Amino acid sequence: MSKNLILFFALLGLASAATFSFPLKQSTSLKEKMIRKGRYHDYVAQKRFAQSQNSNTGKQILFDTSDRYYTVDITLGTPAQNFTVAIDTTSPNLWVIDVDCYAPFCYVTPSNSTFTRMKYNNTASTSYVDSDSRYWLPYENDQIFAMLGKERLGMTGFTQSKQDFLRATVVPEIFVFEPIDGVLGLGWPSQALNGTTSVMQNLLPQLDQPVFSIWMQKINTAKNEHSGAIMYGGIDGVACDKKVNYVQLADAGTWEFMMDGFSMGSFSRQQKEKAVSATESGWTGVPNQVLAGIIKITNAKYDWTTDAYLVSCSITQPDITFIIGGIPYVIKSEDYVIDLGLKYDQCALAFYGKALYAGQPVWSLGDMFIRTYCHVYDFGNARIGFSKFVKRD
Ligand SMILES: *[C@@H]1O[C@H](CO)[C@@H](O)[C@H](O)[C@H]1NC(C)=O
Ligand SMILES: *[C@@H]1O[C@H](CO)[C@@H](O)[C@H](O)[C@H]1NC(C)=O
Ligand SMILES: *[C@@H]1O[C@H](CO)[C@@H](O)[C@H](O)[C@H]1NC(C)=O
Ligand SMILES: *[C@@H]1O[C@H](CO)[C@@H](O)[C@H](O)[C@H]1NC(C)=O
Repeated sequence: MSKNLILFFALLGLASAATFSFPLKQSTSLKEKMIRKGRYHDYVAQKRFAQSQNSNTGKQILFDTSDRYYTVDITLGTPAQNFTVAIDTTSPNLWVIDVDCYAPFCYVTPSNSTFTRMKYNNTASTSYVDSDSRYWLPYENDQIFAMLGKERLGMTGFTQSKQDFLRATVVPEIFVFEPIDGVLGLGWPSQALNGTTSVMQNLLPQLDQPVFSIWMQKINTAKNEHSGAIMYGGIDGVACDKKVNYVQLADAGTWEFMMDGFSMGSFSRQQKEKAVSATESGWTGVPNQVLAGIIKITNAKYDWTTDAYLVSCSITQPDITFIIGGIPYVIKSEDYVIDLGLKYDQCALAFYGKALYAGQPVWSLGDMFIRTYCHVYDFGNARIGFSKFVKRD
């Protein structure tokens, strides 16, 4: 066990019964279509919290961007600087784009965007503490360059005075299109960068239970609703069914678990394989062989301009079923056939093919799966749980 992990479990032992809540706020949204890495995305940015001071557990509202990833709002610094960050269960690190990020990629430039990129400015904060460490970090298929520091973090109900975080001065091109200022990692502390203390590691000892849970929904711009929530320390008993099915993690240290099988109509794959819960992934990553099966069943056509497999929006496709811990989890056509605003009644299948690498998960179960099943990320018992989404609260 790494030093980090031992420290982490020592902290869990100190867990107090204190609970706190997170303010919630709704916002207007923006919808935009663009080509991103050769792929059209229906682009919706939502942000800001609504204020709500209820009692028992910490809750943070999620906003949906293009059904591709979800964001939350945080503050860093004294006085507080506001940031909209994507949540990412595959990394424990917190990072934001720095004011010294000058290249064109550091700015959001899509036309009609109402999103204003906020950049972290350390000279405008009295609570910043520098560290001399500099890092190149992987991000999607690219890299960011960032400097390590400590700063006062606010996630409304939760304040951490010396939170380790990174400020990025070099970011890849995709940030031009992403209405986010950075990333909040909710991964395991043992994966944290060079002995840094992750946000979750600081937060867990203060929670009733060493867990966080997530529900997500598709955005409803007409109703101006938020599109999900993270609850720290418990499970949202209104949004989620109380019956949770758990599966042990494949390795304590990542949100990876074993999947037993997959089926769609006459296509099935019954094989124990590793899957990762990836909140930052709106589309579901499947083995290439499974993608081929899905294409055959749905009669989807590859479209090179969007780099996606397209089907008719008006045809209901068969349910898909993931089997995890012997339990079937069913996802309906409406949750995996997505409307990107293309012409001629064309919708896209929200799947992509994953190449197989030894030891790496062959399935990435992201937002599509979380929209149907609430997820419970249980650090204390090294397990992940799923329960039926009931209704938005
Ligand atoms: C940060 O957001 C809060 C809440 O929306 C707002 O009241 C405050 O003015 C913002 N601060 C800055 C510096 O923009
Ligand atoms: C973007 O703005 C232009 C000019 O204001 C408008 O003509 C166009 O329809 C808008 N596009 C979208 C996708 O909203
Ligand atoms: C950063 O903050 C300092 C101190 O408030 C200010 O002088 C400077 O203009 C800010 N930098 C940017 C790029 O806004
Ligand atoms: C990791 O942290 C140690 C101690 O804080 C530091 O000496 C070292 O330079 C850091 N490594 C990198 C790659 O920055």
